[in-house]
Amino acid sequence: MGRNIHVARSIVALDRALRRIRRGGKVALVPTMGALHKGHLVLVRQARRRADKVIVSIFVNPTQFAPTEDFASYPRTFARDLADLEKLEVDLVWAPGADVMYPQGFATRIVPEGPALAGLEDRFRPHFFGGVATVVAKLFTQCRPDFAMFGEKDFQQLKVVTRMAKDLDLPVRVIGVPTVREPDGLALSSRNAYLSDAERAGAPTLYRVLTACAAKMSAGTSIAKALDEARGEIMAAGFALDYLEARHAETLVPVASAKDGPIRLLVAARIGKTRLIDNIGV
Ligand code: PAJ
Repeated sequence: MGRNIHVARSIVALDRALRRIRRGGKVALVPTMGALHKGHLVLVRQARRRADKVIVSIFVNPTQFAPTEDFASYPRTFARDLADLEKLEVDLVWAPGADVMYPQGFATRIVPEGPALAGLEDRFRPHFFGGVATVVAKLFTQCRPDFAMFGEKDFQQLKVVTRMAKDLDLPVRVIGVPTVREPDGLALSSRNAYLSDAERAGAPTLYRVLTACAAKMSAGTSIAKALDEARGEIMAAGFALDYLEARHAETLVPVASAKDGPIRLLVAARIGKTRLIDNIGV
């Protein structure tokens, strides 16, 4: 299982592997925190279609978790991840330890603004995008990919990373990949593993309500009314709602009417102890 896949764990080993890989043509990077599911694997397949060589990074990044969050218990399935990536003929797995990513004395942090301050995830996880932007900037400079694949599932993250790469003149094209879902609509997520059977049964409500809300807006219902009804339905289904918002799909600024679009609906809600996020275009 995963015996023949090349894994680099130090900067020296990464540089050596990169010298070989870069001779083979364009390189795509798929940054992940492991616990890979079919959504991640779609990103890998898309990477393979765009580039000649594919690197997948696996690093559970401590700086994007608050002390109260699930860093310690975040699912870690490294052997299984390697076996899956080997089947997809990934050229390199970059799996640094925390001491390699953040050596003693590490003291620099990227502070993203713009989409990182949209008042969505940042309102509930204020530490999150600083941690993501810093680690992704490091992954980009470490691996120097031509393309980097990110899921629309984490829509605000996709916008933050795209902005950061542009602002820092990083020579990488950030590619967004549509959300991969279970047959019942639930967006695939490593955190779905936390759901009890009953919670799992209720979880597709989020996508169902998003879809219905988008349909109402398209049919002419006002944004305020459609959001109001959708918020009520999510709470009635037993979720604790963090937010359900209609935002401009590029800038993430609030939109008052359909003509301010393209519109993206974004939701975050908790069911039991698990926090789920999702989003769709209108
Ligand atoms: P992680 O949650 O492991 O996700 C890795 C990538 O997979 C992200 O780009 C995410 O948007 C994408 N992804 C997850 N579920 C998906 C789904 N159902 N459909 C499509 N894409 C999906 O996001 C992170 O890791 C981290 O924040 C990271 C960017 C690696 C920085 O640490």
